Amino acid sequence: MAVRTVVIPAAGMGTRFLPATRVTPKELLPIYDTPAIQFVIDEATAAGIERVIIVTSRSKPSIEAYASSASTAKVAVCVVYQDSPLGLGHAISCARNAVGHEPFAVMLPDEIMGDSSLMKSLIALYDRTGTSSIGLKKVPASEVSSYGNVRTVEMLSDGATELISKSVSKPVSENLVSISQVIEKPKLSEAVSDIVIIGRYVLAPSVFDHLATIKPSLNGEFQLTDALALLANENQLVGIVSDITRYDTGTPMGLLRAVIEIALGRKDIGPQLQTWLENKFRN
Ligand code: UTP
Repeated sequence: MAVRTVVIPAAGMGTRFLPATRVTPKELLPIYDTPAIQFVIDEATAAGIERVIIVTSRSKPSIEAYASSASTAKVAVCVVYQDSPLGLGHAISCARNAVGHEPFAVMLPDEIMGDSSLMKSLIALYDRTGTSSIGLKKVPASEVSSYGNVRTVEMLSDGATELISKSVSKPVSENLVSISQVIEKPKLSEAVSDIVIIGRYVLAPSVFDHLATIKPSLNGEFQLTDALALLANENQLVGIVSDITRYDTGTPMGLLRAVIEIALGRKDIGPQLQTWLENKFRN
């Protein structure tokens, strides 16, 4: 079945952006003049997604207000609620009824990608394999502990690479792997590789059953990675190791970098910003 739906979890507390997030949800903080979540909606639309389900909290009414005017001729945007911030896994399970029994994408709105190529490739990989497919990236060993970490077992060699590169116009450098183990934020000494999960997923609907069985982690949150670990145990998880441009906007410094780099790349304001920066740092 075609992947036409994305779930965007946006019900978190945004504590790393206090005091801004007392009034403005992290997902609506602007990248120059555009809320971060709009970049993710645009990426989804460019990848062929037709339905966006935003998981939000009743304490963040501006997300619902934004969503109510975000539908276009290509994409319908709606919201569902997570009553308490019990973690990413719990947030996804709040979208179960809205998604229905079909494969769906998950896109984290605090990661902005340079283009829609990874999402397109993950959808093509799911279409080809029928197996949950997740975005991966190599990072320096010192950064592995901040992410979900994976052990990869083999390169897929069934023609999927060729199929995927034909299905997207701009192939980024990508490696297809199957995943045998997933660990959430391991200590450096317990890392199983230098490959981590980034915030783009295409999941089979069976993941909702796994989410219903997992237990909360030590901080009381239900982790999506625990459900992915169950899929990996069943040989039901594959991934794409990608070198796509990615901005981590989950921290204030990451957001600031994204604003500067994305603004520099814009035709309307980039040259002006570049001149201002050059003058500022001359001498
Ligand atoms: P994060 O953990 O980065 O967001 O979750 P957060 O909890 O809002 O951030 P901090 O740590 O307090 O600063 C990644 C995404 O998952 C959503 C968040 O809104 C964010 O978009 N999320 C997280 C939920 O929807 N519900 C949750 O219970 C937790």
